[in-house]
Amino acid sequence: MADLERARGLLARARSVAVLTGAGISAESGIPSFRGAGGLWKNFRAEDLATPQAFARNPPLVWEWYAWRRELIANAAPNPAHYALVRIEAAKPQFTLITQNVDGLHDLAGSRQILKLHGDIWRLRCILCGTHWDDRRAPLPQVPPLCACGGLARPGVVWFGESLPEGIMQQAEHAAAAADVMLVVGTSALVYPAAGLIPYAKRAGATVMEFNLETTAFSAMADFSFQGPAGELLPRLLI
Ligand code: OAD
Repeated sequence: MADLERARGLLARARSVAVLTGAGISAESGIPSFRGAGGLWKNFRAEDLATPQAFARNPPLVWEWYAWRRELIANAAPNPAHYALVRIEAAKPQFTLITQNVDGLHDLAGSRQILKLHGDIWRLRCILCGTHWDDRRAPLPQVPPLCACGGLARPGVVWFGESLPEGIMQQAEHAAAAADVMLVVGTSALVYPAAGLIPYAKRAGATVMEFNLETTAFSAMADFSFQGPAGELLPRLLI
């Protein structure tokens, strides 16, 4: 693929790299994505499971869904796409991995500079006293889990209608603006503000390289749009 050669050359010369990942990067680890074939939002309604209103209405139902996903993720391992990003980070003076994923597979693979736009499924937060802590047990001994203060805990993720963690978009925008190359991997790029980072980087002069099974709303804007499984494509960027 001549384009891949060219992309490889540009990446090799880049000093500053930003990456935006979505659920598709973990698909080859066996974790279902949200949209597209086999996507979670085909079988479940986001309004019933991933909003503050849904949690207020029925905490056990929301927790059951998160407990199921935690177990699925606990049994998954990073794939060659996650590891390729670790190698790119090691080779670059400036590197930021911006992820919409809550599965923690980038951490497990060994990535360091990670901005988790949508939080972390292993994090719990008390809705009463606001304390947060990590709990990687899957299954959890008690669902819904409780805080030491007796309050109900919620998953430390961002739900629809909620704000992103304080200051994180500024950091992500800073990385996008500074990037010579932005890799966009396995995201449908339909959820904002994350998706807005792609045109943001492009306007600031980055070469945008997309890796996805399908085309997205941003494929036409990308300088390179590679179609295929990320676990096969990303390692080839490094050879
Ligand atoms: P989506 O499920 O919307 O999109 C996954 C994308 O990955 C699709 O465009 C697929 O074509 C692509 N894909 C699937 N398998 C792939 C593979 N092996 N290699 C490359 N690409 C592949 O996931 P996100 O874009 O991450 O938010 O969704 C964004 C947000 O919407 C999520 O963070 C979540 C969700 O609702 C919240 O829960 C707040």
